[in-house]
Amino acid sequence: MWALADRTGLDLNSPYAYVLWGDHFRSSSLIAEAPSDPTPLGFVMGFRPPEDHETLFVWQIGVDERARGRGLAARMLDHLVAELGVSHVEATVTPSNDASAALFRGLGARHDAPVVAALRYGEDMFPGGHEAEVCFRIGPIGQREPGVGTPTTQPPRGDSS
Ligand SMILES: CC(C)(COP(=O)(O)OP(=O)(O)OC[C@H]1O[C@@H](n2cnc3c(N)ncnc32)[C@H](O)[C@@H]1OP(=O)(O)O)[C@@H](O)C(=O)NCCC(=O)NCCS
Repeated sequence: MWALADRTGLDLNSPYAYVLWGDHFRSSSLIAEAPSDPTPLGFVMGFRPPEDHETLFVWQIGVDERARGRGLAARMLDHLVAELGVSHVEATVTPSNDASAALFRGLGARHDAPVVAALRYGEDMFPGGHEAEVCFRIGPIGQREPGVGTPTTQPPRGDSS
């Protein structure tokens, strides 16, 4: 997850943070690999907020450049939603990230679920010129089957579940 976050230009947390995440939040996170290639192609770092277990909050999602535009991010989200049985998904997106906004709007469209986008964290909450973060809240989900299949996924390395 750390290597993919680095390659995909996401805000990079410490290696220890990803190890800890894969340990404590393994059920709401995943790594996607192609069957023929053990190099991870995508990852989701998610959690269910302690006060709202019906929501999957996606902290980071990244897909390697060579695998983009083929529905992998959508399939990873659909897989986690189905596995966890959550009714809502939330993520914050910077206003310039068109791909990410399209990803979360697409999630709502596939599940016939409303998508509400509202400013969550303003620029003034961050040091060093970080963009504002707009929160996308998708749900309720679960009215019908999603329009895409389940990806070939494996849990983070070291996960025995
Ligand atoms: C955002 C990201 C994860 C999307 O991964 P992906 O596997 O290419 O996305 P998908 O192929 O599943 O496409 C999902 C939707 O986004 C749309 N989309 C994908 N890339 C896009 C782009 N560059 N511009 C506009 N829309 C885009 C697709 O058309 C699709 O829309 P649809 O559901 O209406 O058909 C990937 O671009 C990425 O890793 N970006 C860098 C890291 C990042 O910004 N992560 C998100 C912030 S946490």
